[in-house]
Amino acid sequence: MNKHPAMTSDYLSMLMILALALLVAAGHSECHPFVESQIPGHLGRNEEKLTHLHFYDLLVGPNKTSVKVAPANPGSPLAFGIVTVTDEILTNGPDIYSNVIGRGQGTYAFASMGELVLAATVNYVFLVGEYNGSYISVVGRDPADEKKRELAIVGGGGLFRLARGYVELTTYSIDLETGNSIIDGNFYVYQY
Ligand SMILES: *[C@@H]1O[C@H](CO)[C@@H](O)[C@H](O)[C@H]1NC(C)=O
Ligand SMILES: *[C@@H]1O[C@H](CO)[C@@H](O)[C@H](O)[C@H]1NC(C)=O
Repeated sequence: MNKHPAMTSDYLSMLMILALALLVAAGHSECHPFVESQIPGHLGRNEEKLTHLHFYDLLVGPNKTSVKVAPANPGSPLAFGIVTVTDEILTNGPDIYSNVIGRGQGTYAFASMGELVLAATVNYVFLVGEYNGSYISVVGRDPADEKKRELAIVGGGGLFRLARGYVELTTYSIDLETGNSIIDGNFYVYQY
């Protein structure tokens, strides 16, 4: 074996530079960590509790807000492809004279070619009392012509931060001519 002195010292200095670079990199990542463990109590609430909310979702009256933003393609079965955006009125009773407690803001897409099924994405924001400004985020499958539908609560904001659970929606009344409808909603929410 024939050692090449120049090659060996080049190799050594290269190793040293590499080691130095690694040290500097390690130092940098210590200075600027981007991940940090925290104890759950940091969020201020420790105990997860189950809350039941019951209210109505109104798409009726002069201020009915439901805008079709995308039509179905001609010939599509069962309105497949329609997308609507809604700003529904949430009330504590099943008519427009009930107290307004919030809004249901979201989109509904007619997402089935074989059934009347909506893909729903809705934020239920509350506008009164201690829940004012807090909201529950719901995503789910809504077979609109079935009596009872179940959608997932996937999160929320404010007092509903980190929420999870499910919603049962039942049609309270519907006027197929005008599209006016009242939905009865039972929300079961695990929240902190
Ligand atoms: C409808 O909107 C108008 C104007 O914003 C408002 O004055 C009225 O109270 C609303 N009516 C209902 C039933 O929400
Ligand atoms: C809800 O909060 C908003 C914004 O902070 C405030 O303007 C409004 O008066 C509050 N409503 C009630 C009923 O407390």
